[in-house]
Amino acid sequence: MQTLNLDLADRGYPIYIGINLLDQPELIRKHVCASQVAIVTNETIAPLYLERVAAIFDGYQLSRVILPDGEQFKSLEYLNHIFDQLLAEKHNRTTTLIALGGGVIGDMTGFAAACYQRGVNFIQIPTTLLAQVDSSVGGKTGVNHPLGKNMIGAFYQPQAVLIDIQTLSSLPLRELRAGFAEVIKYGLICDAEFFVWLEENYQKVLQLDPQALTYAIHKSCSIKAEIVEGDEREAGLRATLNLGHTFGHAVETFQGYGNWLHGEAVAVGMVMALDLSRRLGWLTDNEVQRGLDLIEKAGLPIIPPDKLKKETFIELMALDKKVFDGKLRLVLLQEIGRAIVTSNFPMEAFQQTLEAGDQLCR
Ligand code: NAD
Ligand code: GLY
Repeated sequence: MQTLNLDLADRGYPIYIGINLLDQPELIRKHVCASQVAIVTNETIAPLYLERVAAIFDGYQLSRVILPDGEQFKSLEYLNHIFDQLLAEKHNRTTTLIALGGGVIGDMTGFAAACYQRGVNFIQIPTTLLAQVDSSVGGKTGVNHPLGKNMIGAFYQPQAVLIDIQTLSSLPLRELRAGFAEVIKYGLICDAEFFVWLEENYQKVLQLDPQALTYAIHKSCSIKAEIVEGDEREAGLRATLNLGHTFGHAVETFQGYGNWLHGEAVAVGMVMALDLSRRLGWLTDNEVQRGLDLIEKAGLPIIPPDKLKKETFIELMALDKKVFDGKLRLVLLQEIGRAIVTSNFPMEAFQQTLEAGDQLCR
């Protein structure tokens, strides 16, 4: 097992990474301060892992909150289902919520923990690659609103993150690939060496080779931890973690929550960011090609939906949380491994990227 620490004064926590960590009860139990625990999961994950996690809490007052599966249920309505059960089963302020699942469950459980009785403890047990390398770390929690993704939420850090890579063995390949998009993101924004490693090892990671997978997850979490330590509430640097996300959120909202996976939308968004960065003269053709190749070889989409036209893109992107003082800010690349957040780009180049369709990066 490897342990990373996210250092944030009194809100720091360990991130454990290893195989079959769910069979080490003490690892989780030591982060639970009282006898009440509620495991929040969904209908897909419950038959796979719920009882294994429940067994850790033999002798505790344990609730099992099982939500329907899907991004469309990441809403205030279903958040309220968590509160309903916690209240009905008399959970008090010393309870600990356990998020057992992907980013949807992690974001919702974290937000429920932030709100329930003005804040209770929670632990992340991420079971998708995306959640293991990104959403479980850093304390962004929340739900969607019909008018925009992740628009209602809070920064709220967990007590611990427990990453059992064995849980990925049941994850559909499409989901694994979507999570890999976020891994590529780390290489592109701040670690050129890691990007080269990914070019050489992406197949091993996608085939769940334990050594390669552990390395990719550890590297991703340590990059994210370092960024969050420097900028927890996204005043600057943390926004670089959103490479491809502003374009991607527009794609997700246009398609309807859940039709494109988050990581797939981010993949296309990263292609658009590469394209615009080249139009600005910052990236060479070779760098853009390498980015595009890795995204494509990982089996991720590289072309936005045909019907998503420039005007709609602009309208949807205007909802982004990075819009500041009426100006859209984008994460762009100055080279592989160096990202900046800027609103300083010519509108003409931006519009060309939005219109490029299947000619992106070509
Ligand atoms: P998800 O939570 O919907 O999980 C994907 C699918 O895999 C679901 O059907 C789920 O039931 C299933 N699943 C999960 N683990 C499984 C397993 N081990 N075996 C079999 N099936 C399994 O999607 P996701 O990609 O994990 O997360 C996407 C969400 O994360 C989005 O809502 C996005 O906004 C959010 N997100 C948050 C942050 C953050 O910093 N908080 C960062 C990135 C993404
Ligand atoms: N996923 C982006 C962030 O955590 O800031």
